[in-house]
Amino acid sequence: MKITVVGTGYVGLVSGVCFSDFGFNVICVDNNVSKIEKLKKGIIPIYEDGLEKLMVKNMRIGRLSFTSDVATGVKDADLVFIAVGTPSKPDGSADLSYIYDAVSDLAPHVNKHAILVIKSTVPVGTTRAVKKFLQDKGNDLEVAFNPEFLREGVAVEDFLRPDRIILGVESKKAEKALVRAYRPLYMLSIPIMFTDLETAELSKYAANALLAMKITFINEVANLCEKCGADVKEVAHAIGMDKRIGEQFLQAGPGYGGSCFPKDTSALSDFAKKFGVDMPLVDEVIRSNCARRDKMIKKIMDVCDNDVKNKNVSVLGVTFKANTDDMRDSPSIGIVNYLLEKGAKVKIYDPSFSKQAQDIFKNAEWSSNVYDNCNDADVIVILTDWAEFRAVNLAELRCRVRNPLLVDLRSMYTVSEVKATGFVYHSVGRPLVK
Ligand code: UGA
Repeated sequence: MKITVVGTGYVGLVSGVCFSDFGFNVICVDNNVSKIEKLKKGIIPIYEDGLEKLMVKNMRIGRLSFTSDVATGVKDADLVFIAVGTPSKPDGSADLSYIYDAVSDLAPHVNKHAILVIKSTVPVGTTRAVKKFLQDKGNDLEVAFNPEFLREGVAVEDFLRPDRIILGVESKKAEKALVRAYRPLYMLSIPIMFTDLETAELSKYAANALLAMKITFINEVANLCEKCGADVKEVAHAIGMDKRIGEQFLQAGPGYGGSCFPKDTSALSDFAKKFGVDMPLVDEVIRSNCARRDKMIKKIMDVCDNDVKNKNVSVLGVTFKANTDDMRDSPSIGIVNYLLEKGAKVKIYDPSFSKQAQDIFKNAEWSSNVYDNCNDADVIVILTDWAEFRAVNLAELRCRVRNPLLVDLRSMYTVSEVKATGFVYHSVGRPLVK
């Protein structure tokens, strides 16, 4: 079976590499020529654990190749996955232009027995609209929808060991071809669920919106904890042990970011309205998460007596979460820019050494490790939950800073371990430690 993946972003590249690792012949197509040239040399443009090794292995075996020529890429394919971006437009709706551009480009060259599978996250009705778009051009290509549930940073693991595979199909032929593509997972007893196109499309948005809602809920509980003396981590643990709730996605913090939750909650609210349905809960999640950034800024400013001018602020972690260099919609953008605007001398250490972050925070200084970053700090602010921050020797850090103020927006340390070090410790949804 020959698979082509159009789009070599997180989803496309991870899917292409993993399908090749299943043993299929895979061609990844992208119209970004310089990206394709790098990929051909075994250089990946993203920071994703385990991906480069798997990619190079499958390139060597000869099962994985890259091209910027769409005709070459799709002409022999049995399955063509579309994994291009669907970014937010200014009004919150999903921009589908990359989908239609890709479909228009490949349609004249694709083998007529192939199945076109949309993997990009698209509003309900898009896959059917793409089918109609093709039919209007006299092309009867079969279409299907297969949502992805990959998390950045653990995307390879998520692809190879997913909780489930959802396949929106309209024929036995598509069902058979997709079962074949995912057969190696079937052997691991991963459930495969077949649905219609609309159900599969909505499942993706509903999953992301519910996860975003869980985070927003626990952030609101954290606000209450800070006022009433409860500990949000323990509340999360207590409620998470209830199987109906589950412990995951109950970590209070600076609000969700990244390329998916903000974009997908906005798109869901937008297309629901187009169907005549209001989703006030989703709208409130979006509003509450935006307000969270201001709340986090206020928290830091309160700790600094509302004055950061010429103060040394040591920022630890700026990516939207750990194990990625991705800065898209990272809570750090609003927070660090605010501190810079108010005249703080911001020093940043992020284990990914994110190039995107360095471009965004041009007026900040950068360090190569936590300890150097904290020398003479008036306040330390933790914004991203990198595991290496957990291993930091807080007693040593205490000796390096000018003022022992630690604002930890990811609540990475236990109260007892910080207590012994002499830091004044402000975390999220937990009592102040002095
Ligand atoms: C998310 C989903 O988890 C994936 O299933 C989905 O496939 C992907 O979006 C997508 O639509 O492509 P991702 O954005 O990579 O994946 O990252 P998450 O691990 O979900 O984290 C999203 C944000 O929520 C981060 O800013 C993270 O710090 C925050 N978060 C997560 C919390 O604040 N608390 C939590 O308990 C969990």
